[in-house]
Amino acid sequence: KKLIFSGIQPTGTFTLGNYIGAVRNWGALQDQYNCIYCVVDMHAITVKQEPAKLRQNTLNSYALLMACGVDPQKSILFIQSHAPTHAELNWILGCNTQFGELSRMTQFKDKSQKHPDDINAGLFTYPTLMAADILAYNADLVPVGVDQKQHLELARNIAQRFNQRYGEFFTLPEPYIPEVGAKIMSLQEPTKKMSKSDDNPNACILILDDKDTIIRKFKRAVTDSEAEICYREGKDGINNLMTIYSCVTGKDFKAIESEFAGKGYGDFKLAVGEAVADHLEPVRTEFARLSGDKAYLKECYTEGAQKALRYSGRIVSKAFHKVGFVDR
Ligand code: TYM
Repeated sequence: KKLIFSGIQPTGTFTLGNYIGAVRNWGALQDQYNCIYCVVDMHAITVKQEPAKLRQNTLNSYALLMACGVDPQKSILFIQSHAPTHAELNWILGCNTQFGELSRMTQFKDKSQKHPDDINAGLFTYPTLMAADILAYNADLVPVGVDQKQHLELARNIAQRFNQRYGEFFTLPEPYIPEVGAKIMSLQEPTKKMSKSDDNPNACILILDDKDTIIRKFKRAVTDSEAEICYREGKDGINNLMTIYSCVTGKDFKAIESEFAGKGYGDFKLAVGEAVADHLEPVRTEFARLSGDKAYLKECYTEGAQKALRYSGRIVSKAFHKVGFVDR
């Protein structure tokens, strides 16, 4: 069986983009593959975080992954900082990564532009820690949205360089990107990716939003001045709504076009809003149930960390040996 690894930052509640682009697929892959998933709290502190809030968001994100279908009995589900192997391997990989490579990362460029007063070393080396997450398990496949592709390519390059220098060791990870929904766009500016950090709250659907909020946000979604529901170059707003509708209903674009032939954008937006809200209803219910059961959550993440540590510990020890460290 191939090994899957992926991670998500603890923002407490995920966006519809996180859900469609990545998290939804995590659960679906569990029966076919060995899966390891984590909440990346160490990545989160590359930007300023309030400690109490980070802790709460991390626990909520953990529960939310379970509510989205990740089953800690089938997958290894843990919190990144609980497996110190990631930080250990990060150092080795950092010493095999060039300043120039990290400087070219678009996410680094974006984030340093956004926070010019806090361009810290962690923000710069964010991608080496991400590479460590993946390589510490020798993962084959990494289910992510399109925005993580560049980081994944870097992880492959670092692995390749290590293998050349020290002998064949790391598996080169492949991105696993869905054909439809790999980049869900902002509802307000459909040429920009949907992101929780958007200043306009109407731009982004949070998966714990209630039904009325979801419908209201879709009603306000920016479209175009035509009145034709079809998937076509240049119709960014409608293309995005069709993509979302397709992902939550399973209907293809042709079917959606005929379903809404002759209907107005108002009807379509309402239908998308309702479909999304109904699709997310069980996630909300399950999250409410799980997040109240602190003892059970703790049991799950403790066990997850033990398994993750056992798995990655073997690989990281071997990497240390390859580099020339004295065995401990
Ligand atoms: P993060 O936390 O920003 O996002 C989690 C996942 O959601 C996907 N995603 C989207 N997909 C489609 N449309 C969107 N608008 C959208 N927004 C986000 C992301 O591509 C991602 O798959 N660096 C990673 C976390 C990470 C990681 C890892 C991932 C750390 N270590 C190791 C894979 C493997 C990140 O910040 O994702």
